[in-house]
Amino acid sequence: MKCDVLTLFPDILTAYLNESILKRAREKNLLDVKIYNIRDFASGPHRSVDDYPFGGGAGMVFKPEPIFRAMDFLREDGETRKVILLSPQGRPFNQKIAETYSREKQRFVFICGRYEGIDERVKTLVDDEVSIGDYVLTGGELAALVIIDAVTRLIPGALGDKRSVEDESFSWGLLDYPHYTRPREFRGLKVPQVLISGNHKEIWHWRRKEALRKTMRIRPDLIEKVVLSDLDKKILSEIEEE
Ligand code: ADE
Repeated sequence: MKCDVLTLFPDILTAYLNESILKRAREKNLLDVKIYNIRDFASGPHRSVDDYPFGGGAGMVFKPEPIFRAMDFLREDGETRKVILLSPQGRPFNQKIAETYSREKQRFVFICGRYEGIDERVKTLVDDEVSIGDYVLTGGELAALVIIDAVTRLIPGALGDKRSVEDESFSWGLLDYPHYTRPREFRGLKVPQVLISGNHKEIWHWRRKEALRKTMRIRPDLIEKVVLSDLDKKILSEIEEE
């Protein structure tokens, strides 16, 4: 994934991008992120980036000029870009969009909004407006990080060799099954016997059942969307009978 991020708070992004999987993905050139401070593109003695709303009302509005100037600067290299505006008004981000973005060859630009809103004319620059959930954040930075993180995990090689394709496809569309590590008993809490049995078929069955059970309980809407095998349907009826 190749992307440029336009933000007023670069440090928020660099902190997260310089740790763990994203850091390694950058070192391996699987992820190329460049961060630009929108204030560097603001004019006037105060380099102001916000102004009062036309029509009145509370809060400030992100001015169009600094963002247009930042986009003009980025476009100087002639590369085409897919421009994403992060906002609570966008279409909801999900794993499917993460998959699509992970296959995208073009560079992305993530515009992180702030204040009460962004001047509507900025939307003429934008290909896609995306929200990470039905809540209002202080700015788009966390949303940009969420998207970059979710997309990077899907880039082959980003997670190392540990995660097998099999494991990925196992839980596709369902909530994950419960995980355990040593010790076998901790403060009286035991690891389910089946996981210690060494019987891979039974372990698979148990995990699938627990994933289905958890999804049914917490996210029944996901069960409606996922394609269930005949075995899944049998497991679901087993759960219902318990
Ligand atoms: N900026 C503020 N809230 C947001 C949200 N929920 N998603 C994306 N960007 C945002």
